[in-house]
Amino acid sequence: NFVKAFAPATVANVACGFDIFGFAVKEPGDTVELRRRDEPGIVITDITGDEGRLPRNAEKNSVTGVMLYLLKHLGITDFGCEVVLHKNMPLGSGMGSSAASAVAGVVAINEMLGKPLTRQELLPFAMEGERIASGSAHADNVGPSLLGGFVVIRSYNPLDIFTIPVPGDLYCTLVHPDIEINTKDARFILRNEVSLKNTIAQMGNVAGLVAGLMQADYDLISRSMVDVIIEPVRSILIPQFKEVKQAAIDHGALGCSISGSGPSLFALSRGVENAQKAGAAMKDTFADAGIASSLHVSSI
Ligand code: HSE
Repeated sequence: NFVKAFAPATVANVACGFDIFGFAVKEPGDTVELRRRDEPGIVITDITGDEGRLPRNAEKNSVTGVMLYLLKHLGITDFGCEVVLHKNMPLGSGMGSSAASAVAGVVAINEMLGKPLTRQELLPFAMEGERIASGSAHADNVGPSLLGGFVVIRSYNPLDIFTIPVPGDLYCTLVHPDIEINTKDARFILRNEVSLKNTIAQMGNVAGLVAGLMQADYDLISRSMVDVIIEPVRSILIPQFKEVKQAAIDHGALGCSISGSGPSLFALSRGVENAQKAGAAMKDTFADAGIASSLHVSSI
């Protein structure tokens, strides 16, 4: 009658793969606790870590919204539970914050119901949480948060998603500057047209990154962590972007780009020491410009 589920933060896009690449980190992540109650209906009893900003109404909150959607899909009307959400990452951070909450929610309720759905089958429900949170049902955060590892979304319609192996010695550095970017806004500023020249460059890097990860070719990973379409537009929203990215690369990272829709930056490195060195340099560079930041280093 009590279930607790954890879902990790994620790095979406991974430089060249806008809306099609994402990977999970080990921490931070959000936790959802469910307690069965006799009366039907979902009630939010507490949310921690959101500074009181998320809706407490179960229909309006994306976490309980996806739970209600799942119950409706399964035709369950007599189920009742109390929900507690522990948010362990800031909203609008680019670390897949809304996705982690939605995934923890669907995993928890599925477990309480005796696991009628597989993790793959839970994906469309978690994606609905993204639609509620940002107006777009992208899967590059919910996919890896739900399935773990490095995820590729080959197609959205029909949904075709799979994971690829990554080298065991690959570490992610996530640096979150103390500013907030709304995913909706960060999508709105993107251009709808892409030149053939940039499409070719981006496709080359997408192919290179997949091959580099699967063959543990660190040089190829490094050369492929280039985004010629989204990063040039979105980076203007992040103060010190160029300097922080350069600091990561100068201090041992294979590459560095915007995590999801930002403002967090992520770097990939070979080995935990490089990942930590890159992180310290990134944090210092933000600090030099008077911007406080938090740092997470994790294997993938
Ligand atoms: N692919 C999405 C975007 C991820 O970049 O808008 C949002 O976290």
